[in-house]
Amino acid sequence: MSGRRLITNLKGLFTPDPETPWGTHTVLDAALAIQDNRIAWVGPRNEVPRAWQGAEPIDGKGRWATPGFVDPHTHLLFGGDRSQEFNRRLHGVTYAELAAAGGGIRETMRATRLATVAELVAIGESRLAKLARKGVVHIEAKTGYGLELETESRLLEAYAELKRRGWSLDVTLMPAHDLPQEFAGDPDRYIQVVADEWQPELVGRFPGVARFCDVFVEKGVFTADHGRQVLESGRKLGLTPRLHADEFCHTGGAELAAEMGAASADHLMFCSETGMKAMAAAGVTPILLPATTLFLGMRDFAPARKMIEAGCRVALASDFNPGSCACLDPLLILRLGCLQLRMTFEEAFTAMTLHAARSLGREDLGHLHPGALGKVALWEVNHPLELVYWMGETYLPEIINLA
Ligand code: NIG
Ligand code: FE
Repeated sequence: MSGRRLITNLKGLFTPDPETPWGTHTVLDAALAIQDNRIAWVGPRNEVPRAWQGAEPIDGKGRWATPGFVDPHTHLLFGGDRSQEFNRRLHGVTYAELAAAGGGIRETMRATRLATVAELVAIGESRLAKLARKGVVHIEAKTGYGLELETESRLLEAYAELKRRGWSLDVTLMPAHDLPQEFAGDPDRYIQVVADEWQPELVGRFPGVARFCDVFVEKGVFTADHGRQVLESGRKLGLTPRLHADEFCHTGGAELAAEMGAASADHLMFCSETGMKAMAAAGVTPILLPATTLFLGMRDFAPARKMIEAGCRVALASDFNPGSCACLDPLLILRLGCLQLRMTFEEAFTAMTLHAARSLGREDLGHLHPGALGKVALWEVNHPLELVYWMGETYLPEIINLA
């Protein structure tokens, strides 16, 4: 019976409950039925409906099934790396000092401007393959290391090719990631060019490739007014706003995200309580990036508990990028979520699946309930909690991808 598959012999199944903000379901000795590319039934093996008993079986080999991870904030494509800068940070130079001296994002911009589309595609495939091996089934990926029209365009072209090759990703336009030297001292002019000229041009060149737009609102980079200008232009082009907000100090980023009805506000290490309430009321997903806090050597992990108490559906992401988070490991994010953001295991797992997917408008990812896409991770553990508990262990799940 082609198109009808039954995963059986599962030690258990663990999934967020899409009907509640933080509920999860655990089914022991479980089975899971997939019709074409969607989950059709989930439950205990001894209750598999008759109609499913003849379906083509997939042997779960006594493992645990969970939804694959969704990473809703990456800077996937860039040229070069910043390992030498990283070493200078270890010798005491700060991230801000490196950036002020023309390094940082602009260092990566120079390497990215030299990369061809074919090189960017190859880099992207190798990084996506690493993420997939570790259980990530869908990501968000930003442009933003071009800081000029033609390189931003090549980044978008490379993302379009990765999508054509079947990688599951949502693309975010982010030319306002930093101020390039061509516009030194004139951020107003740069923002005007991004908002009025580049965004419309890029959307016109690659219709339907980008779904979101983003901007780095931060002291010394772009103001909330700049952010508003970029996001409003994006919205007119059909892009949904996301926002880099309150990363190094409080700039009112969370409040701006709420005002703009953004899908997410990301970083938020210095988010105000007013900002949290505003995000909860506006349905903005706070996306927390604890591996960035760690990699920057900072202690100010984002106030996840306060956000959850304020009614926010918090998500977790990697922020994979060459400067502030050279990390392609979802389990490190999960572990930091539990150990530094003080989330429970169930909350952190939900934040990396259900809420991550929802921040991308993907209701059919991040859970294993009927209707979800058939992307299932099979883990060789006694219980999924071990993914955090055995803290230094490497776990490579098998991904059943019938979507
Ligand atoms: O999300 N905050 C801005 N952008 C990145 C850092 C990029 C870089 O250092 O290359 C971030 O942390
Ligand atoms: Fe980022």
